[in-house]
Amino acid sequence: METEKMIEKVENIINKDEDLETRLKDICLLLNKEQKGYDWVGFYLVEDGELVLGPYIGEPTDHTNIDFGEGVCGQAAEREESFLVDDVKQEKNYLSCSPQVESEIVVPIFKEGEVVGEIDIDSHKKARFEEEDQNMLEEVAEMVGKML
Ligand code: SME
Repeated sequence: METEKMIEKVENIINKDEDLETRLKDICLLLNKEQKGYDWVGFYLVEDGELVLGPYIGEPTDHTNIDFGEGVCGQAAEREESFLVDDVKQEKNYLSCSPQVESEIVVPIFKEGEVVGEIDIDSHKKARFEEEDQNMLEEVAEMVGKML
């Protein structure tokens, strides 16, 4: 789906009269359904200085609590920037959720200049995530940051 259309749909979800958890889950559903190869889509939210798994779509994961600096998620949080991994098998600091995963993107969510969460997406396809995905997801993260 085109970025513009996706942003419009995310905006509609954010403006719904639903609780935070439902809206975050609906954003996961949208991304998973409309973007080919977005096989696992989830949010981590910062609580007491660590990343805690929030709403997600896909297989359950053991990695419900991740420290800053740990794995792809923790590295993105520590560096305060998006992290794209084309081939997770080549990434040493990686926490595996499923052997099917080949590539991953993690985009931090900021509020008042602080990382307050992340969007994490896994793909079963190698090098699935490109600059276009990063730009779209950074826009989504910015919108989500305002609702947190
Ligand atoms: N692969 C992530 C862990 C989260 S799962 O992908 C859901 C990481 O290395 O931080």
